[in-house]
Amino acid sequence: VVDGKPTIQNTDNYMMLVNKEYYLPAGYIPKDLVRADVEYSFGDEIVEKALMRKDAAAALEEMFQAAAAEGIELFAVSGYRSYSRQEAVFNNEVAQKGNEAAMEAVALPGQSEHQTGLTMDISSRSVNLELTQDYELTDEGRWLAENAHKYGFILRYPKGKEEITGYKFEPWHFRFVGKTYSKIIYDKNLTLEEYFELVKEV
Ligand code: DAL
Ligand code: ZN
Repeated sequence: VVDGKPTIQNTDNYMMLVNKEYYLPAGYIPKDLVRADVEYSFGDEIVEKALMRKDAAAALEEMFQAAAAEGIELFAVSGYRSYSRQEAVFNNEVAQKGNEAAMEAVALPGQSEHQTGLTMDISSRSVNLELTQDYELTDEGRWLAENAHKYGFILRYPKGKEEITGYKFEPWHFRFVGKTYSKIIYDKNLTLEEYFELVKEV
C-alpha cells in the first residue's frame, strides 16, 4: 500500500493485475519500450502510443503477421500511455461525456493497462480505424477474439463481464500476458480478475 492505494510491486511480471482496485506505482515507466514493426492507424508518426514492452511488441508482430496470412488486416491504434497522457485522455472523456460515462470507458491515471506497455488497442479499415463496439461484428474483430490467445494476448474487457472488469465491452483492447496464461484464460473464458480469484482459492 502506497499513499493509501494498493500498488503493484512486481512490475516485471507480465501477469500483473491493473484495474480499479490495483494501481501502478506513480511515475512507473517500463524500461524496455520499443516500437512494434506493424501498421499503425497514424502511419509512421513517432509517438508514445506506438510503443510496447519488447516481448509484447514481438508477440504483436507475430499476431499481425498471422492475421495478414489469413487476409485479416490489423492496425495498431494505441499502445503505451504515460501517467500524464492517461490523465489527459480521461479528462478529455469527462469533458465530452461526463464523469459517469468516462469512468466506464477510460481508466484513471495509474489504473490503466496502457501504462504497463503490455496493451494495444487494435482496429481495421472495416470500422474506419475507430475503436468501436461494432468491431465485434467484423471479420477482423472476430479473428482477434478467436485467435489472440495463441499469441499471448487476451481480450481484456469482454461483453457480459462488465460488472467484473468495471468497464464497458472493448473488442479492440488486447493485453499481453504471455502464451501460457492467455491460453488458460481463453479456454476457461475468464477475465484477469476471475483468474486471480480462482488462483487465490487453490
Ligand atoms: N479503456 C481502458 C479501460 C483504459 O483507459 O485503460
Ligand atoms: Zn485500450
